[in-house]
Amino acid sequence: MPTTAGTTAPPLFGLAEGVVLEYARLPVDGLPPLLREESRLMVGLPLARREDFRLGRAAAAKCLSVLGQRGPVLSEGRMPLFPQGVVGSISHRNGTAVCLAARSSDIRAAGVDIEIARSIPPRAARILCTERERAWLKQQPDPEQQLTALFSMKEAVYKAACGLRLAIRSFKELELPVDCYDGKVWDGIAVVHGVRLQTGGRPADRTVLTWAVARL
Ligand SMILES: CC(C)(COP(=O)(O)OP(=O)(O)OC[C@H]1O[C@@H](n2cnc3c(N)ncnc32)[C@H](O)[C@@H]1OP(=O)(O)O)[C@@H](O)C(=O)NCCC(=O)NCCS
Repeated sequence: MPTTAGTTAPPLFGLAEGVVLEYARLPVDGLPPLLREESRLMVGLPLARREDFRLGRAAAAKCLSVLGQRGPVLSEGRMPLFPQGVVGSISHRNGTAVCLAARSSDIRAAGVDIEIARSIPPRAARILCTERERAWLKQQPDPEQQLTALFSMKEAVYKAACGLRLAIRSFKELELPVDCYDGKVWDGIAVVHGVRLQTGGRPADRTVLTWAVARL
């Protein structure tokens, strides 16, 4: 069956064909091991970042396996560098990592983000959101949840934009398609420097998961 989500991921509304999403969670037992080059990168990181790195690379290894590829997933600065022919993105939060990846023949760039539900304080809306987004937030039954979703989606778009070498100077300048939220999931198009990014997300009780994908 052609799948848009990896074997361990729940079905995701709106993800482009060929895009794989995989999770890795603590404990690390049973997760794909780090490859030698990845281990070398990890030992260069501060202790506090190593566990996240480990989980992120495990989620990436699962994605690569679904795509019939193999790592290592290296780093370019802080950006993840997937093997040739694959684009992807990683996020981690509180002992969970998620990776979204696809063949570069299917998509140009990807961003994924997870956040703790309702973790962004309402006062942050002034620096994160456009006026239109703030007006929309005011009408929402759960504005803190939706503010976290907006922030998360902006992080996902930011990661995809970095993959495209597009600069986003301020989250406030990045307008998200708020009218594309149906009460359960997001699915809409954001435009960054003329490039269309499919954005999607699923704010759940505990965590908010969002993604952004630039198709070819
Ligand atoms: C880079 C950033 C998106 C990471 O987000 P975070 O919430 O701190 O952490 P997450 O767990 O979601 O993501 C971390 C992963 O993102 C990836 N990443 C880091 N920098 C990245 C970048 N510039 N582009 C794409 N992916 C990046 C890495 O894979 C990293 O995991 P790893 O170190 O294990 O490889 C965030 O720190 C950031 O700088 N956001 C932009 C904020 C900002 O400047 N906004 C205003 C103008 S844009």
